[in-house]
Formats: sequence, structure tokens, C-alpha cells
Amino acid sequence: MLYAADPVWEDADRGVWLYQGNCLSVMDRIAERYPEGVFDMIFADPPYFLSNGGITCHAGKMVSVNKGEWDKSRGPEENHNFNREWLARCQKVLKPNGTIWVSGTAHVIHSVGFAMQQLGFKLLNDITWVKPNPPPNLSCRYFTHATETIIWAAKSEKSRHCFDYKLMRQMAGGKQMKSVWEFLPPRRAEKVFGKHPTQKPVALLERIVHASTKPDDLVLDPFMGSGTAAVACIRAARRFVGIELEPAYVSLATRRVEESHVLA
Ligand SMILES: C[S@@+](CC[C@H](N)C(=O)[O-])C[C@H]1O[C@@H](n2cnc3c(N)ncnc32)[C@H](O)[C@@H]1O
Repeated sequence: MLYAADPVWEDADRGVWLYQGNCLSVMDRIAERYPEGVFDMIFADPPYFLSNGGITCHAGKMVSVNKGEWDKSRGPEENHNFNREWLARCQKVLKPNGTIWVSGTAHVIHSVGFAMQQLGFKLLNDITWVKPNPPPNLSCRYFTHATETIIWAAKSEKSRHCFDYKLMRQMAGGKQMKSVWEFLPPRRAEKVFGKHPTQKPVALLERIVHASTKPDDLVLDPFMGSGTAAVACIRAARRFVGIELEPAYVSLATRRVEESHVLA
């Protein structure tokens, strides 16, 4: 089954389809084919708009923040318009009870939350992902950045969203799971096929997938990067569609997916 013309890579047996291109146009093609929506869940890790000449600490050294052309800010209005554009398409391709998770830092997450309210999503939770070992703040003029926010929302106020309460409670040692989650950055084994500057840990994605989907559900990642969500879906026996603009990252994601039976 194809979700838009010409995936660059597919494995119909495992239910994985990868697309290279701009997620706006690929989602338009999917929406044309499935006007009632087709995805049970979407995970999106969009551009943060922070590669604009600032500095950060990498491996103990001061380096300029340059994650790529795709991460450059175009100013607050244009950045917000872009967030509205891709979120509107995500809302179209979600099934009526589907949910979306969007991760980001302060540079982008407030615009994402506002755009969701403008579009009529139902906000469910905002998760604070705590990084126990953040890089130091070299300027010594700010607190060190140690968290990211992940907003969880349903397609509309009418949605009856999926939440595996029982499993989450079990994972939290028999107590209700809180919205503060601690995860280390990706392990070395998750980077053996190459690096992505904003790669997420597989364990974080696995929790998201288990919390909000059932086996065989269909998940979309419109900003796939290195394919972390794909790996999590394969490990959890969910089907997956990924879209990525940069051919080099599509190749990286493809290798991770091909080898996901042996490696995270
Ligand atoms: C924040 S990263 C995602 C990282 C990913 N979660 C991972 O674990 O590797 C965002 C990705 O979106 C891609 N991207 C940016 N604009 C895009 C667009 N319009 N359509 C599709 N991909 C895009 C970038 O090339 C980048 O790889």
C-alpha cells in the first residue's frame, strides 16, 4: 500500500515507507488520497530555528550553532506561518481520534502551541523532557538548557484519543506517570550509521509510541531526520511513514531501519 507516489524506500511486510521531499507537498498528496485522514499518531520534531550564529558547547569546545540551512530562522512571523502550514496538514492526515506529539525548545514550541490552538487541536499534555547531563552554558549568563518540551494534542475537541494508561502506570512503578520524563541523549550504539545534529533517543520515542498507539497502528514523522521514530515503531510493531528533506538524512534513516532488528 502506498501513501503518496514514489517512496524512496519501502518494506511493505514490516509496514515502513520513507519519502524524500518537502513534508508540505508529500502531506498534500497523502491528504488527496485519504481525505478522511489515515494516521493514528504523528510525531514531529520540526526545525528549531536556532542556527543563527549563536554559540554552544560541543564535546567541551565552544562552537557556533549551525545545524543546517533548514534550521535558520526566517523571523518570528514567517516561522509561525511555517508552523501553521505543516500543522494544518498534519491535522488533515490524522484520523478523527488521532494524536500528535511535537518536540521543541523555547525557540519554536510556543509558536507550535499557539498554532495548535488557532487550528483547533485539543491540547492533552505538555511533557518536559529532562536531560540529566546537559552541556554547560559557556557564557555564564543563563541557566544551562536542560529540558525540551513535547506537546501532545488530539486532532480536535471531539477526538477520543488513545492512551495506554495501564502500561504507563506499570512503567512508572505502579503510580500514575508524571509529565516530567528523564532520558539520556542517544547512546553511541544509536549513532553507528552516522550522526544527526538533533537526533532523539530511541527510548523517548518508544515511550511516546507505546503511550498513544496500538500494535499495527500507522504513525507519521514529517521531519524524520535520522529515523529515530521509525526505529521505535519497528521495535513496537507499529507501521511507519517518514518524510525528510535532506537526502543524506534519508540514507541514514534507511540504514537504521534496515538494521533495526540488530541495533537501536
Ligand atoms: C529536528 S530534526 C529531526 C530529528 C529527528 N527527530 C531524529 O531523531 O533524527 C528536523 C529534520 O527536518 C528536516 N526538515 C526541515 N524542513 C523540512 C521540510 N520542509 N520537510 C521535510 N523535512 C524537513 C531537516 O532536514 C531535519 O533533518
